[in-house]
Amino acid sequence: MKSIRTISELREWRAEQSEVIFVPTMGALHAGHMSLVQEARRCAGERGVVIVSIFVNPTQFDRPEDLENYPSTIESDLALCEEYGVDAVFFPQVTDVYPADASVSLIERSLSATLCGATRPGHFDGVCTVVLKLYNMVQPQVMCFGKKDFQQLAIIRRMMRDLNVDVQIVGVDTVREEDGLAMSSRNARLDQLARAEAPLIYQTLCAVKAGVEQGELSLSGVRSAVEQGLAGVESETRIDYVEVVDEESLAVVQAEGGGRCVVAVAIFFAGIRLIDHITVDLEVV
Ligand code: PAF
Repeated sequence: MKSIRTISELREWRAEQSEVIFVPTMGALHAGHMSLVQEARRCAGERGVVIVSIFVNPTQFDRPEDLENYPSTIESDLALCEEYGVDAVFFPQVTDVYPADASVSLIERSLSATLCGATRPGHFDGVCTVVLKLYNMVQPQVMCFGKKDFQQLAIIRRMMRDLNVDVQIVGVDTVREEDGLAMSSRNARLDQLARAEAPLIYQTLCAVKAGVEQGELSLSGVRSAVEQGLAGVESETRIDYVEVVDEESLAVVQAEGGGRCVVAVAIFFAGIRLIDHITVDLEVV
């Protein structure tokens, strides 16, 4: 496995490859990331190569303390990449990605106004800017992203469409712990009680899905169903949002019509903000 630190080294490596499948990450890799790598390997087949980038992108942090405290586990990240058959790992330097006098960046004006974007100003602009920069550096045919961050995935698809970028975006299913909690580097920051209770988020989402699909719960009752699902929890919890939205446009879905929608939640458990979502099939209502 090749370690690449500079853009010129990356370009030399890229010139020798034909089919490149790219998994951008911020490191602190866990099983969720490795499922992206596995999907990338599958897409790469015999002929293609898989590259993972590890770059903690400063422009997507709305709180400086989150950037400072972002975990760095380079040794184990490299070991995991090696184990999962990654061909190259790219560690761009902040100064290469963001020259000191950089004055051009991206703004997404629609999909980032809701859900996580509503309380994280500038976050998705930072994500768009870095993802496009990384795309330009690596020039892959395919990029893989987790469906767990489904707003991020919708925004990246929109950005690539709007900017006519010729790349295939592959969304990879959320990986869950045995108890259903969606894998995230934030889970390690939960205290013991919150870790034990947090799987209730997914259990509640599954109950909401069943309720809506069986016609026993209306979309307008989804928020109170989530509140009730969390009622017995002893950890300090706070709902940031519970929204029922269209998968692509992220517009709020109000009426049980046809098609699919997504129930998306962000909930603070003992101070740690956890996100999850579930797809609900309204055809069966
Ligand atoms: O999902 C992430 O880890 C980051 O938002 C990404 C896509 C690597 C951009 O920094």
